[in-house]
Amino acid sequence: MIEHPVLSPPTPVAFPTLLTRLRADLTAAGFTVDGVAERLGPVASAALHREQSLPALLATETGNGSSPPGGGLGGGPDACAVLIRLFTLGRPVPRPDVEAALPRLMVVGAVALRLVRVEGDEAAAGDVVATCDLRPYADDTHDWWVASDLSEIATRAPLRPDHVLGVGGASTTLASWTIRRPVDRVLDLGTGCGVQALHLAGHARSIVATDLSERALEFARFNAALAGLELDLRRGDLLDPVAGERFSLIVSNPPFVITPRADDVPLYEYRDGGRSGDAIVRSLVRGVQDALEPGGVAQFLGNWEVPRGRTWRDVWAAWLDGVALDAWVVQRETQDPAEYAELWSRDGGVVPGSPEHERLGAAWLRDFASRDVEAIGFGVVTLQRPLTDRQPWRSLDEASGPVAAPMGPVVDAGLRARTWLAEHSDEDVLGIAWSCAADVTEERHGRPGAEDPSVILVRQGGGLRRVVQAGTLLAAYLGVADGELTAGAALEAIATVLDLDPTGVRAELVPQIRDLIADGLLV
Ligand SMILES: C[S@@+](CC[C@H](N)C(=O)[O-])C[C@H]1O[C@@H](n2cnc3c(N)ncnc32)[C@H](O)[C@@H]1O
Repeated sequence: MIEHPVLSPPTPVAFPTLLTRLRADLTAAGFTVDGVAERLGPVASAALHREQSLPALLATETGNGSSPPGGGLGGGPDACAVLIRLFTLGRPVPRPDVEAALPRLMVVGAVALRLVRVEGDEAAAGDVVATCDLRPYADDTHDWWVASDLSEIATRAPLRPDHVLGVGGASTTLASWTIRRPVDRVLDLGTGCGVQALHLAGHARSIVATDLSERALEFARFNAALAGLELDLRRGDLLDPVAGERFSLIVSNPPFVITPRADDVPLYEYRDGGRSGDAIVRSLVRGVQDALEPGGVAQFLGNWEVPRGRTWRDVWAAWLDGVALDAWVVQRETQDPAEYAELWSRDGGVVPGSPEHERLGAAWLRDFASRDVEAIGFGVVTLQRPLTDRQPWRSLDEASGPVAAPMGPVVDAGLRARTWLAEHSDEDVLGIAWSCAADVTEERHGRPGAEDPSVILVRQGGGLRRVVQAGTLLAAYLGVADGELTAGAALEAIATVLDLDPTGVRAELVPQIRDLIADGLLV
């Protein structure tokens, strides 16, 4: 078993005056997403993304790389490199360098914010060591900074069970898929360092952010204050802290990692909500309906187990049984139990190939075998509470390749299209003059010399990047879908030209037209 020191590392505190100085220093140092990328260069940046710190260490050695203009309160010579070494790479940095990089806050201010400690003789020029990670983060219109616990790159030790994660791949996936409608009250469930809340602040009037971990809430409080935001932070399990309340939007990157429930398997709060199997995601599906306003939307990531003899769609159909919410689940990838065990038994700092890694891998495999799990799905879930008492719609899709970025506008349009389809009849669909979306193209494949194509593919350039194999009738319809002719009139004309029964043409094409409307290929 991994032994950790008894005391958790400190969490930062948000003193407003000191935060103002910190913000000014970080900005002046060019310690922004673009500034760091420029300072490190593409190779060291890419390596850091893969959690390899060596190229970044070499690139930020004193005297290595271009120094931004220094002097006065301008950030000091190569202040950006100093801050990368201190806060991202977790290296001790000589005190005079940190004083120069943070001229307004100074080391004494950084100590007061609990971002760093001074090693050795405080009065003399001892080294300064970060006590947490602090990195720039951005969207199209904001520059932020996010503090979290020091990563494995910095500590070079396995993570602690109460580790508070920084911004990771799952965080940015959820942020990309989140719909950005202006909303009143939002809930960020399992806020961690508060990254989703930073994004939500751009389109929500008030934000409740919850977490089981008090340490996570302290990081979220600090990060929000550094961004000039106020959050309503609450501690508790899943939806408990908001019992009886309703939200227009709920987002969650929940602790969805399926983990064997055994004493000798570490329980990492950031990834594991303490339930067995995939119960945490299942309980969110059931639980969020009472927490949504009519018309409200919940979006979260998740893993789901697919037992032998069933498909992931069977699993979701059972989960959604009796749930009065529209549901759009996009499965992005699947892993077999061995792949999943490999991934998660090394997460947290366990060395692949070590006896510990083997022991944990075996625990995962036995856990999956006990429930006859054949595959584990990962994807993005969007649930919507209907405005009326109509039947909820279901859309269970697979998209394993690249998709649009950001996906939020696509999800928003897809929700509206699916809702419109659920509330309108086939006659209504036929009464509209649809057009092929601007990003739709057609590919015809055939044997050399053949007069007619053997395969026609309709390809979406954006969105979920769907590729649909079109039969002759659908290809004929898409060829005339230019927004001038109603679908009904177009199908009538196609039936006449091809000498087919119009009822048969409609029966074949209306479900296909509905499908293309849902995903925005027809608009
Ligand atoms: C994967 S992290 C997500 C952090 C952040 N929202 C993001 O998008 O990166 C999951 C968070 O859920 C919290 N958590 C774990 N178990 C929980 C529970 N039972 N109820 C609420 N939050 C929980 C963890 O402390 C952690 O901060």
